[in-house]
Amino acid sequence: MRRGSTLLLIIVAFVGLIVAVAASLLHNGLSARARPSAMEEMLARNAWHLSIPSDARGMHNPLPASEENLKDARLHFADHCAICHANDGSGDALFGRGLYPKPPDLRQAETQKRSDGELFWIIENGVRFTGMPSFASHGMDNDSWKLVLFIRHLPKLTAEERLQMSRYNPKSPEDREEEKEEDEFLNGTTPQKSGTSNSHP
Ligand code: HEC
Repeated sequence: MRRGSTLLLIIVAFVGLIVAVAASLLHNGLSARARPSAMEEMLARNAWHLSIPSDARGMHNPLPASEENLKDARLHFADHCAICHANDGSGDALFGRGLYPKPPDLRQAETQKRSDGELFWIIENGVRFTGMPSFASHGMDNDSWKLVLFIRHLPKLTAEERLQMSRYNPKSPEDREEEKEEDEFLNGTTPQKSGTSNSHP
């Protein structure tokens, strides 16, 4: 009898929890513009941390943080990752702002606390049910290890490095044209605009 009522209590608490989580997930009509609640974020982080195999978490980065490796990773990040994570890792980027869950600020402790193996595993495998894709390198894993070096470097990223990265961000044809005009202007080679014609040379 006693056992029966404890079981009932557990079932009621469990159903209550599911209803509360579902209500918190659905109250915004599944819009990607919402911010996850603190509880949702905490649950997702813990579930995800546990889902990474422990031998993967224990892997060490085989590459040194040399200037060359960091430069490769910076340009790779600018080209493949910054569209969601932003060049500085803040997540304040066109796609990043519109995703749910949003990319976390990679400079903060929550990410920096992760082991090298964990960061590598996330880059290689992606995160299911989120915008984070898998960048599986199928054994040619130097690129992912270099990216791990760069994530460690992010809190110390200089303004000069950021500027260099912005040249490697994917661009639309209009952006490229604008950039070319800026370059021409800065180099003093802007063609003189005549009053009568606005055609380009
Ligand atoms: C299309 C968008 C998108 C792209 C492109 C992308 N990411 Fe992500 N990334 C995300 C999102 C969203 C998350 C958060 C996932 C979650 O909530 O669990 C994330 C999470 C991460 C994390 C885990 C951070 C943490 O501590 O929670 C790392 C590391 C990461 N991304 C690295 C990269 C790297 C390196 C690249 C490029 C090779 C990249 N991402 C490209 C969207 C993206």
